Amino acid sequence: MSKVILITGASSGIGKLTAEFLFDQGHQIIGLSRSYPKNEYKYDYVLGDLGSQVSMDNAIKTIKEKYNQIDVLINCAGIGISGAVEYTSFEEVNKIFQVNVMGQFYMTKELIPLLRKTEKGKIINIGSIAGELTIPFQTFYSMSKAAMHKFSEGLRMELKPFGIDVATVLPGDTKTGFTDNRYQPIVMEDDLYKDRIKKSINKMEHDERNGMNPMSVVKVINKLIKRKRMPVMVTVGFMYKFLVFLGKMLPKRFVNWILSKMYA
Ligand SMILES: NC(=O)c1ccc[n+]([C@@H]2O[C@H](COP(=O)([O-])OP(=O)(O)OC[C@H]3O[C@@H](n4cnc5c(N)ncnc54)[C@H](OP(=O)(O)O)[C@@H]3O)[C@@H](O)[C@H]2O)c1
Repeated sequence: MSKVILITGASSGIGKLTAEFLFDQGHQIIGLSRSYPKNEYKYDYVLGDLGSQVSMDNAIKTIKEKYNQIDVLINCAGIGISGAVEYTSFEEVNKIFQVNVMGQFYMTKELIPLLRKTEKGKIINIGSIAGELTIPFQTFYSMSKAAMHKFSEGLRMELKPFGIDVATVLPGDTKTGFTDNRYQPIVMEDDLYKDRIKKSINKMEHDERNGMNPMSVVKVINKLIKRKRMPVMVTVGFMYKFLVFLGKMLPKRFVNWILSKMYA
């Protein structure tokens, strides 16, 4: 059955591919982000900046005027940040949290009434492996995604009586524009950290550029839309499922040691 699906971050990467795929499946798609997709797109589009409440209010007003209900909300918009905590500014952290945490919260909160109008509304939040396994020199990104995972879980329990189901999808390294769009640190090498920041960033960038095809994430999202009841969290890919499992089973100290060896 055709559904009305709102996807934030639909101008590129995972969100765009999800929008195209679900549109081809016969769903009515509404994309949302600060800019339109660069190449031709067939779905509806609303411009909105998750970093600005005024911009979100305008986008929400347009959505509420145009659409009577939303069956599925996919919170996919997100940005990355790398660098040492010591050299990151208050403003940079604020920007990341505005988009990855506050923006997701505000869009969701304002759209719950439209989701409640459907028999079985669904909210699918795109989190990250980095929200479960803390990556050094990506500390604020990990923090923002961990916050989103908790947001998802709380929301799931709060909305259950209304028949609205909530799930979080955890992609690992995925080949998209995310790598180039990440806020880069000003300090890469210095006497204190030597070349640890640079090495760590080179590794994460290399892994992403050689990462999963975003279609793997799209397939998981599509399966969730079709399911009667969604799981709380779905990790994309066997290797990442195994890593998250190990992260939960092994002593924290040992997990941090491995992550330090890999990234710090
Ligand atoms: N790629 C990976 O390795 C990876 C791994 C784990 C999780 N993820 C998560 O997957 C999601 C999608 O990322 P991606 O890989 O597809 O990256 P991407 O290609 O950079 O796409 C990010 C999307 O978010 C939108 N966006 C960014 N800032 C925004 C803002 N202030 N307001 C509204 N929209 C905004 C961008 O559109 P505009 O620039 O037009 O606004 C774009 O459509 C993110 O939440 C990311 O954290 C990615």
